[in-house]
Amino acid sequence: MSDAKLYPPTPEFAAGAHADADRYREMYAASIADPEAFWAEEAKRLDWITAPTKIKNVSFAHPDVSIKWFEDGVLNVCANCVDRHVESRGDQVAIIWEGDEPGTQKEITYIQLHEHVSRFANVLKGLGVTKGDRVTIYLPMIPEAAYAMLACARIGAVHSVVFAGFSPDALASRINDCGSSVVITADEARRGGRTVPLKANVDAALPHALGVEKVLVVEHTGAQVDMAATRDVWWHEAAAGVDDFCDPEPMSAEDPLFILYTSGSTGTPKGVLHSTGGYLLYAAMTQQYTFDYHDGDIFWCGADVGWVTGHSYILYGPLANGATTLMFEGVPTYPDASRFWRICEKYKVNQFYTAPTAIRALMGAGNQYVEGHDLSSLKVLGTVGEPINPEAWNWYNEQIGKGKTPIVDTWWQTETGGHLLTPLPGATATKPGSATLPFFGVEPVILDPTSGQEITGNPAEGVLCLKDSWPGQMRTVWGDHKRFVKTYFSDYKGYYFSGDGCRRDEDGYYWITGRVDDVINVSGHRMGTAEVESALVAHPKVSEAAVVGYPHAVKGQGIYCYVTLMAGQEPTEELRKELRDWVRKEIGPIASPDLIQWAPGLPKTRSGKIMRRILRKIAEDDFGALGDTSTLAEPAVVDDLIANRMNKG
Ligand code: WT7
Repeated sequence: MSDAKLYPPTPEFAAGAHADADRYREMYAASIADPEAFWAEEAKRLDWITAPTKIKNVSFAHPDVSIKWFEDGVLNVCANCVDRHVESRGDQVAIIWEGDEPGTQKEITYIQLHEHVSRFANVLKGLGVTKGDRVTIYLPMIPEAAYAMLACARIGAVHSVVFAGFSPDALASRINDCGSSVVITADEARRGGRTVPLKANVDAALPHALGVEKVLVVEHTGAQVDMAATRDVWWHEAAAGVDDFCDPEPMSAEDPLFILYTSGSTGTPKGVLHSTGGYLLYAAMTQQYTFDYHDGDIFWCGADVGWVTGHSYILYGPLANGATTLMFEGVPTYPDASRFWRICEKYKVNQFYTAPTAIRALMGAGNQYVEGHDLSSLKVLGTVGEPINPEAWNWYNEQIGKGKTPIVDTWWQTETGGHLLTPLPGATATKPGSATLPFFGVEPVILDPTSGQEITGNPAEGVLCLKDSWPGQMRTVWGDHKRFVKTYFSDYKGYYFSGDGCRRDEDGYYWITGRVDDVINVSGHRMGTAEVESALVAHPKVSEAAVVGYPHAVKGQGIYCYVTLMAGQEPTEELRKELRDWVRKEIGPIASPDLIQWAPGLPKTRSGKIMRRILRKIAEDDFGALGDTSTLAEPAVVDDLIANRMNKG
């Protein structure tokens, strides 16, 4: 890819940016040469109750892996995101909310945010929530989601936001894993003109989550819902009876801020735990540099707060920087495919951040939805979640950026808290499809997957690891530190293993090639194939199932399921639909199988291990590359699977 076209920043952009190429090089070198000094200086961007003197205390190589940043510092995240802006910019809009229905909107100033959050914090206290307690948040994209998260941070409670698209079962398992006794939800969510019965989902989850004592319910659509007399409390009723002042709780920098569940290659989703000081600092700094955010800019991250992108770049990063952050309840295609561009025009959005899957969907809808909308306010465009294909990149660049707006392709993970590989718009010449270069303080390495040795020199290809810590790194898996060590630090000793494959080109640019484990990426949502498999085999008619990803034009990857039925079951179209609905019910619509192939047998080794490599190749139509099949117990099953592979249309 050395011939990939380069898109350098314009001299005008570079001149006004927080970092131009020289500044990036200087700061990056300083951050690697002396991380302690670099991060001690950067820590000053936060308001500390007690400033940290111990900056970094990390050992990746220790058998227990310990990661601490700013450990003797004391601060409160909510005070940093809200209180400190009240004096300097109290009347500035903190949150612009655009509802699902065009014409529904709200603007919340920092003064108002302070009041709402303080009330919310007092309501939580009234429900018995104290420092260190876990609170599960299952809310639509409404301002109350931000109030709830910030209120937890204010009183030192640990929030666990569960994406409102997850099913009651998925919600129950997440509530149980972190032991929340309080759940915050709404009557319903609105999305693309439809409603989602959130409160009813909570009611369905709670018989399987017996530790829940209180459910706080936000009235959003006004739909009729059941309220359990002693358990369920309306937010507006509780809020009317509390004070709008609440002291922020002093927290140690290493106290947990939140848990966010994410899928891995095995087992149930892991509770990724993020810290107070390091996480906030990293979210704030990346929001400023990656998007070249300046005071007064209108910043729009189109993610959902149910994912880490929403945590870091709708809420914590922008608010820590005193930004105006836009929160959109709906979807890009409702009422039609011009919605994003209408919103950009309406609020004069300066930075816009979305996923390649949304870009591909809007590109497919046609340019007529873009035409006629004034997008001249846009200064930086961002993408996240999966590699962006050149067609989508070019469309984004030409149609949305009009060929003059830098695009930042940001590679990171739930685990990393913020961007690790990304261009800086005033500093980095971009190449379509490459996440380019490391952020300050980040030391990526490419290891040979077999020997585990670092591949120095360019070009290089292998697995992507990080050599040392950055402040936004997750600290542990909630309740299972052993799993943390095993998942991220045991395959390659002394390194953080990302799970991604990667190539570094002649210019030292990084190109993510996709997951090397059994995790797939469907429309930018991360999914463990094992989770879909266990949902399928829980169906009474299914005997065995194996799930892999395959290339999908819009979603990036689609979900391909090989299903072996119980003896005597008829493989019918109705059963296919039944299984699809079943998985939606077990996990949520995002886990819906795209293709289900009936498999009389699955390719297994003589010891009974399913050979997924082969199943992946069949799903990808890559029969020439099936590799060594000599260890198969029954080679004939492969021929059957090839002969009956699903047509992807
Ligand atoms: C996985 C992490 C980080 C927020 C969204 C997803 C893939 C993420 C990129 C990118 C290529 C990317 C990786 C990563 N990924 N960003 N710019 N280019 N791949 O967070 O759900 O934790 O998923 O998403 O495979 O490991 P996540």
